[in-house]
Amino acid sequence: MDYFAYKNKKLYCEDVNLQEIVEECGTPTYVYSKKTLERHVDVYKNAFKSHKNLICFSVKSLSNISILELINKKGCGFDVVSGGELKRALHAGADPKKIIFSGVGKSHDEILMGIKYEILSFNIESESEIKRIEEIASSENKVANVAIRFNPEVDSGGHEYIKTGRKGDKFGISSEESVLKIAKYIYKSNHLKLVGLACHIGSQILDLQSYKLTAKNIKDLSFKIKDLGNELDFLDLGGGLGIPYEQDDTPSPQDLISIIEEELKDMEERIILEPGRSISGNAGILLTKVEYIKDNFLIVDAAMNDLLRPALYKAKHDVWSLKEDDSNSKAWIIAGPVCESSDIIAKDIHTNAGEGDTLAIKTAGAYGFVMSSNYNSRMRSAEVLVDGKEFNIVRTRETFEDLIKNEIDLND
Ligand SMILES: Cc1ncc(COP(=O)(O)O)c(C=O)c1O
Repeated sequence: MDYFAYKNKKLYCEDVNLQEIVEECGTPTYVYSKKTLERHVDVYKNAFKSHKNLICFSVKSLSNISILELINKKGCGFDVVSGGELKRALHAGADPKKIIFSGVGKSHDEILMGIKYEILSFNIESESEIKRIEEIASSENKVANVAIRFNPEVDSGGHEYIKTGRKGDKFGISSEESVLKIAKYIYKSNHLKLVGLACHIGSQILDLQSYKLTAKNIKDLSFKIKDLGNELDFLDLGGGLGIPYEQDDTPSPQDLISIIEEELKDMEERIILEPGRSISGNAGILLTKVEYIKDNFLIVDAAMNDLLRPALYKAKHDVWSLKEDDSNSKAWIIAGPVCESSDIIAKDIHTNAGEGDTLAIKTAGAYGFVMSSNYNSRMRSAEVLVDGKEFNIVRTRETFEDLIKNEIDLND
């Protein structure tokens, strides 16, 4: 559920008429709803009935510092995948003891930073990585907390590019033999502590049976691991819950958590989840103005550099007009101005909007702004956070000076 809705035929975010934001901030602009973000966090947290748990918001889905601050205030931890994300989470006030560092290619400096801050865990993905972490921890005279990310051999998630939990995928460790070998190695080390087992099977997952199977696999493997050494602090089932992009019927976090709690009912470990999209996705929209009508295209001022998902994954987004459309409006293709044929934001969108009108690309909060770029030398859009009747700019629109600030003009 989200707080974007029509009131008197005008589209609102909470109690703010989105037209006001267009007038003050221009377009394209991302708009996020504080109430929606907080509601989604509460739904996750309140769904646990029996297990100790920690919700680590996946920073990669939406990483604006003001958003991370509000998620931090709700008591969440964070799942980060780079030094930049780790710094963002810390800047937003996160407790390092609630930070999980995932990712297949952690650099020396990123590991060092995590060790210095004594984060909750590095979710490790290879034998080479565990050796690197041990070496750095030893040089710092510290003990690094680690969890092993394994592939439960579950085929789930939407597009091929967002499936991650199968053997042979780039992420995680596929063979049980390797997982057990790494566990033995960790148990013998003076600078490593095995605190958990982790997996992440993909994104935009709509079939909860994949999670049931994953929970069973993580439980079975945890027994084998504990037989080799000590108890674990947590079992981390990753993120991935799908959300309704077009009127899909999607499972809720309550459905997800009840399946996981049932499968893990005899387990003492904390359950960690790393949701991104299901917290941030429909908490954000992208406002864009119609520049031109051409044949059956509405050419808008947002493009694939602002919202890459349709071009990258063939992802679908619903598009609403700021003035509520009537039912017999014509179907349009919404296209961006970037010089690529793949710069199509959505197809078959029924709207009465014409040149100069504004559209809201829905469900754009996750993997939206964070994937934006300066392709075609386009300035990145502004970001706005709505809180009740008020709204604040939480990132200003880029300027030409921002665009060239790291370039060195050899003629100067
Ligand atoms: C390790 C890990 N955790 C969590 C997530 C968040 O996934 P989602 O946004 O689908 O919940 C991702 C996304 O790819 C991920 O790679």
